[in-house]
Amino acid sequence: MHEKNVYLNGEYLPLAEAKISVLDRGFLFGDSVYEVIPAYRGNLFCFAMHLQRLNDGLKAIRLPISYTTEQWLDILQPLLIEGDAQYIYLQITRGVADKRDHSFPLSCTPTIFAMCNPIMPVLGEQGVQAITLDDVRWKLCHIKATTLLANILLRQKAVDEGAAEAILINEGYATEGAASNIFVVIDGVLITPPKTNEILSGITRDVIIHLAKANHIPVTEDVISLEALQQASEVWLTSSTREILPVTILDHEPIGNGQVGPVWQAMNGLFQEYKQVVV
Ligand code: PDD
Repeated sequence: MHEKNVYLNGEYLPLAEAKISVLDRGFLFGDSVYEVIPAYRGNLFCFAMHLQRLNDGLKAIRLPISYTTEQWLDILQPLLIEGDAQYIYLQITRGVADKRDHSFPLSCTPTIFAMCNPIMPVLGEQGVQAITLDDVRWKLCHIKATTLLANILLRQKAVDEGAAEAILINEGYATEGAASNIFVVIDGVLITPPKTNEILSGITRDVIIHLAKANHIPVTEDVISLEALQQASEVWLTSSTREILPVTILDHEPIGNGQVGPVWQAMNGLFQEYKQVVV
């Protein structure tokens, strides 16, 4: 079988040959940021928005690297396989230091890794189960850091219980999913928590808000209490790899009438059209 190439520090090579040092700070400390960028028909979706978030994250962790949009496109585009729904995983670590030390050298050469994988078809029509869990993460959730131990433990707990996602609750309010943002529909209004350091500023989230505004679907950014979440007529999870996933069962209880709701049907239709035309 022809093995797909990945990108590592200026080279395209088979996955099995892509190796990094054990002293890489991404490996030792999770000292790195990442992006997940979908591509449809070979076109990177909302690339400028993903790049902006990447640059914001690099700045937040004091990792100075300034590639232009063209330079990033030159690196990433050769990884895409035309025709299918793919996503690029891009990770930038602070690089390799001489020794293990929490404080970082100011002059490391960053490690840049990227690979392309298929996006698995999302079976949104059926709805999924979710559970609520205490949001035990840190206070810098707006940074798309690879330091994801809390997120993976939370997602695994959900999977152990037969659910697709954990919806995280911080002091009585829903923040986001372990790897997704959340939306609810209450009295016909679409609500998602505001952008703070408690959530990742999801690109899918931004696209949905844009589509709602452009199509006269009432939308607002506001806090969502646990009670509001439980009583909402619709609950959705959104991410680049799962698009818009309706939750029909939360903590073993039905959301609304337990069926996928009409606002999801409308928004999913808009999103499917949008992703074919926007780059
Ligand atoms: N995760 N919140 C968290 C904590 C996430 O990890 C993600 C996405 C999102 C949604 O962001 P976006 O719409 O830009 O994908 C929100 C990706 C898909 C991942 O870690 O694989």
